Amino acid sequence: MNLQSTRTLNNGIEMPWLGFGVWKIDDDNTAQSVQWAIEAGYRHIDTAAIYGNEQGVGKGVHNSGIPREQLFITTKLWNEDIRAGREMQAFEESLKKLAMDYVDLYLIHWPVENFQRSWKVMEDILASGRAKAIGVCNFQPHHLDTLLADARVIPAINQIESHPYLTQQPLLKYCADKGIACQAWSPLGGSGAPLLEDEKIIELAQKHSKTPAQIVLRWDLQRQVTPLIKSANQQRIKSNTELYDFSLSEEEMAVLNGLNQNKRFGPDPENFDF
Ligand code: A2P
Repeated sequence: MNLQSTRTLNNGIEMPWLGFGVWKIDDDNTAQSVQWAIEAGYRHIDTAAIYGNEQGVGKGVHNSGIPREQLFITTKLWNEDIRAGREMQAFEESLKKLAMDYVDLYLIHWPVENFQRSWKVMEDILASGRAKAIGVCNFQPHHLDTLLADARVIPAINQIESHPYLTQQPLLKYCADKGIACQAWSPLGGSGAPLLEDEKIIELAQKHSKTPAQIVLRWDLQRQVTPLIKSANQQRIKSNTELYDFSLSEEEMAVLNGLNQNKRFGPDPENFDF
């Protein structure tokens, strides 16, 4: 396995295992960060309409000189656009900001009411070829049950908050059983990455001569989760990709799994007000 390795989604599309996330990077700095990420070897970039930096992603991709078809680009449909029933317009606005004629993955950002109706538009977008795969974010099993009851297309992805303090084992199992691949947002625990101070993670890092972040990201790969790693720092962008010269034993994986506290750093999908 290496940085260019891909996983096959349930519709046959290949997705690079590691993704670069740009949440909270402002539009001006996004182009530079994306360019550094592509230079470091990332081929998978994750943005969203609400992040306000799709233009920056488009610029970074353009400036990288890497052909579009070698990259995997994700963006997301925002809640207000679902509520207003303007899914198709929102998708077209995203493409325009990205300066692209397709995305690799288009996701429903949060399980707001009406997501079943939006899913039908997502299915139409998929059929048109302007998204190569479609999926959801922050869906719990009951949301997926509701969606699947009336869906023609099974989501390829569920993107969820997950890290060693929120391992999400039952949700991962549910998704695996349905053929839905999981991506993790805030894989390092979000702003400031507090879990990188965890004693047990530091101990494993010292043992392997790796950084705490590399230990957590390697754990993600070995538990079949695609981490979406945010950094605006060129040196950390690069070091976060250096995951392929070591592996965690079963016992070490169990240590990380054992850190679970069901602790969220971000909003709860069962109870959010945006
Ligand atoms: P920075 O952009 O300054 O590197 P998330 O878990 O939501 O992806 O957030 C990651 C957070 O951790 C960001 O605040 C990012 O800040 C920081 N970060 C990213 N990579 C590392 C790393 N290797 N070591 C420490 N902090 C990191």
